[in-house]
Amino acid sequence: MEVIKTEGLTKHFYDPLRRQAITAVDNLDLIVERGEIFGFLGPNGAGKTTTIKMLLGLIFPTSGQAWVLGNPIGDKKTREKISYMPENPYFYDYMTGEDLLYFYGGLFGLKGEALRKKVDELLGIVGLSEHRKKELRGYSRGMLQRIGIAQALINDPELLILDEPTSGLDPIAHREVRELLIRLKEQGKTIFLCSHQLSDVEMVCDRVGIMNRGKLVRTGRLEDLLKVGEMEIAVEGLEPSKIDAAEKIASRVYKKNGDVLLYADGEDKAQEIIDFVRQNGGKILSMVPLRRSLEELFVEIVKEVS
Ligand SMILES: Nc1ncnc2c1ncn2[C@@H]1O[C@H](COP(=O)(O)OP(=O)(O)OP(=O)(O)O)[C@@H](O)[C@H]1O
Ligand SMILES: [Mg+2]
Repeated sequence: MEVIKTEGLTKHFYDPLRRQAITAVDNLDLIVERGEIFGFLGPNGAGKTTTIKMLLGLIFPTSGQAWVLGNPIGDKKTREKISYMPENPYFYDYMTGEDLLYFYGGLFGLKGEALRKKVDELLGIVGLSEHRKKELRGYSRGMLQRIGIAQALINDPELLILDEPTSGLDPIAHREVRELLIRLKEQGKTIFLCSHQLSDVEMVCDRVGIMNRGKLVRTGRLEDLLKVGEMEIAVEGLEPSKIDAAEKIASRVYKKNGDVLLYADGEDKAQEIIDFVRQNGGKILSMVPLRRSLEELFVEIVKEVS
C-alpha cells in the first residue's frame, strides 16, 4: 500500500522582491510504499521542506493532489498517525529526557500507567534509559537527536517524517541513529527521510527521490540507481597468452602481482568472459557488479539538470 502518493503536486510562492511567482515544487508525482525508508534528497532550495509541509497539511498546494495513508492531505485523523521531526527540534532544556516524553505523551492524551509504560519503552528504543533523569541542556547532540526521535514516536505513528536526523552528529551517533531507523523499519514503520547526509542515506534507504529546482529528477531503488552496469571479474590460472585474448572481450583489464581483474560491460559480456576463462583452464574467484556512490550519482544528476 502507498503511504504517500502525490499527483502533479505544485506550490508557487510569490516573491515580492522580483514581483513574480516562484515554483518551489513543480508537478511532483511521488509514491512511498509502506514499510520502506525513502530518502528525499536535493540541493538547498530544491523544494523538500515545502513538499513535507504540504504533506503535513501545514501549507496548501497551489495545484495537484496528495494522499497520506490513503486519505487526502490535511485530513485530521491521518495527522494523528504521522510524526514529524523538524531539523532543529525545539526543546525545553530545563526538562529531563523523561519529563519531555511525559509532556508530549500527555499532549497526545496518554496518562497514568499507559503513559509510564510508553515513556519507558521509548527511552529503551532510543537507548536513553540511563540518561532519563538528566536535563536536556546536559545532553549531547546525538542524545538530543535521539530524544527528538523518541518524542516523534510517542503517538506510535505509521509514518515518520524526519528532516536531517543525523546532521551535526559524530560518527558513533550517526551509526546509532541509522541503527535506530532500521529497527523502526523492522517494526513496520514507514520513514520519509530528508537529508543531505548522503552516506547515511546510502546505508539505510531502500529507495530515494532526488529533487532539483522543484522537480523530481530521479527516483528508484538505490541498488538500481547506483549500478553502473560494469562487472569486475577476478580470475586466476590463465596463461599470459589467454589473458591477452581475454582482453579483447573485456572492456579493460587490471593486472598486478599475479591478480587479474577483467571488467565487463553488462551481463552478456560478463557471461562471455566467464565462459572464456573456464574453457581456457582459468578459475573465477569472484564477480561483483561495480557501483558508484550516492554522492557521485547526486552530483552528476544535479549538474546535468542545472
Ligand atoms: N514561505 C515561503 N515564501 C517564499 N518562498 C519560499 C517559502 N518557503 C520556501 N520558499 C522557496 O521555495 C524554494 C524551496 O524551498 P524549500 O525550503 O522547500 O527547499 P529545501 O529543499 O527544503 O532546501 P534545504 O535543503 O535548504 O532545506 C526555495 O526557493 C525557497 O526560497
Ligand atoms: Mg529544507
